[in-house]
Amino acid sequence: MNAKQAAAFKAVEYVKNGMIIGLGTGSTAYWAIQYIGEKVKNGLQITAVATSAETERIARECGIHVVPLDEVGDIDIDIDGADEIDGEKNLIKGGGGALLREKIVASVSKEFIVIAGKNKKVSSLGKFPLPVEVLTFGWQHTARQIEALGCQTSIRKKGADIFVTDNGNYIIDCHFDKIEHPGVLEQKINNIPGVVDNGLFVKMATRVILGDDDGTTEELG
Ligand code: A5P
Repeated sequence: MNAKQAAAFKAVEYVKNGMIIGLGTGSTAYWAIQYIGEKVKNGLQITAVATSAETERIARECGIHVVPLDEVGDIDIDIDGADEIDGEKNLIKGGGGALLREKIVASVSKEFIVIAGKNKKVSSLGKFPLPVEVLTFGWQHTARQIEALGCQTSIRKKGADIFVTDNGNYIIDCHFDKIEHPGVLEQKINNIPGVVDNGLFVKMATRVILGDDDGTTEELG
């Protein structure tokens, strides 16, 4: 069992019969979906909400009952990965481009469990370029306004084309190097017209499980 699998396996222990579960996106959340799928095959009954079209596809393949977010009330547990995690459990997410739905789902979850290899733990956020989801209309102007906050930006590409999110928007990756005040920056970016949301998840994670390649896990205190 590798680091991602170990963290995912541990998180799935919290999933109980009758719960509404948020399913994250990415290569670590993938394993949580697989382990939940195994439990479903063994009789576990849950309802799931997916944070991306890709996750919905994987979950259905695993036999998990997936419904739209508006068909459920609050989510009991959301399990998702992260690109960086600081000591306060603040996160950068969106490396896979799904940050907007991930943040919406996390915000209506009673418990938000973040799973990652221990290499994702950092002393301060920002080495990983911060993804910002923006409207396609006037995106270059939006990018320049973000740059005025002290970063360099690049438009997310998929091959030769600009990457388009599940919501029909673009992602601007913002190179800050070091983010001193994640909560302040999150709000400043979101105040720029054209920005839909950004990948800073501040004070949202209720539990962070870090996996190691020896199969062990530790929980961030
Ligand atoms: C998807 O948009 C992201 O927020 C992922 O949750 C994040 O990039 C972590 O992905 P991995 O688990 O693949 O590292």
